[in-house]
Amino acid sequence: MTDRITILQNATIILSDDILHGWVAVEDGRIVDIGEGRPPERGLDLEGDYLIPGLIELHTDHLESHYVPRPKVRWHPLGAVLAYDAQIASSGITTVFDSLRAGVDVDGGGLGAELIELAGAVDEARRHNLLRAEHLTHLRCEIPSPGVVEMVEDFVACYPVGLISLMDHTPGQRQFRDLTKYQVYYSGKMGKSLAEFESMVAEKQRSNGDRAAVNRPALVAIAQSRSIPLASHDDTTLEEVEQSIREGVALAEFPTTLEAAKASHAEGITVMMGAPNLIRGGSHSGNVAAETLAREGVLDILSSDYVPASLLMAAFDLPHRAPEMTLPDAIRTVTKSPASATGLRDRGEISVGKRADLVRVHIKSDTPVVRQVWRRGERII
Ligand SMILES: [Fe+2]
Repeated sequence: MTDRITILQNATIILSDDILHGWVAVEDGRIVDIGEGRPPERGLDLEGDYLIPGLIELHTDHLESHYVPRPKVRWHPLGAVLAYDAQIASSGITTVFDSLRAGVDVDGGGLGAELIELAGAVDEARRHNLLRAEHLTHLRCEIPSPGVVEMVEDFVACYPVGLISLMDHTPGQRQFRDLTKYQVYYSGKMGKSLAEFESMVAEKQRSNGDRAAVNRPALVAIAQSRSIPLASHDDTTLEEVEQSIREGVALAEFPTTLEAAKASHAEGITVMMGAPNLIRGGSHSGNVAAETLAREGVLDILSSDYVPASLLMAAFDLPHRAPEMTLPDAIRTVTKSPASATGLRDRGEISVGKRADLVRVHIKSDTPVVRQVWRRGERII
């Protein structure tokens, strides 16, 4: 992580609303000058490749899957963090909100008390300067889960949190409004028969509502008292969007209907959708397609969700899916917009004074290839 740079030249630079063929000068980790054509002194030749801001990822579950590579298997925490970090950085991501689940999901997932241990491994790697990307924490709170409020209180007392999201995966609503899709998802994952499935659904619906009514306001209060940006998750109906507005939500993660996305966007709530959804042409849960929201002008942010490399692919694909969007518009969905939504004002665009978090991208067979990545002017890939 040395190779300090000063000038990158012969680059196709994606600015926040324009494309420029030229050069970028970097000093002390910041962008200090940008110009068209040849630079005043010779720099590193990018051979015409794109130069874009480092990507900013708000919702990736890949840290957990490195730590739990198989059900009941736990990998070495620091080893998991380092392998995950390498995958993130090589996907062009220079700022990542590691998504950690607080509480137990309907499939029995979630780390329980190990959440703190895994966050400790990230903290250790950060303190010893072992990480390529900058890692912040996105605490994903499963609202109806017993003990979730206490778990979040313990976590925020130990480690900084950059984003809190409010999830409720109770069957029959939000992500799983369509119970047939829910059955396919969870029967496949858990091997349940139809009868077992139906009785599980009935029990979940009974018990979750009561706990959610108590836990949701408590979680909102924790976020508000610490000025942590709040995200809604899988908003589906206008009533749910109105609740998000009342709670001061800044970001709507994966709204499941066009109606909810439009209502959120109109109220200034930033709408985020999954990059895999865009690339695959639809949602794996059968909900609204990211492409539809992009065409309707209400897609603000993309997230890699469950495939880190999808973020860059989707950004370059977006202008083909939504012809109203230019390439700078598309790149903003993975750089400037996620930075703004989470209060990171020092990064997210190639502009004088911003951090020199930069990615060199070569296009081969319509596929974007990450060639080099810098964070604060230091080469990390
Ligand atoms: Fe969800």
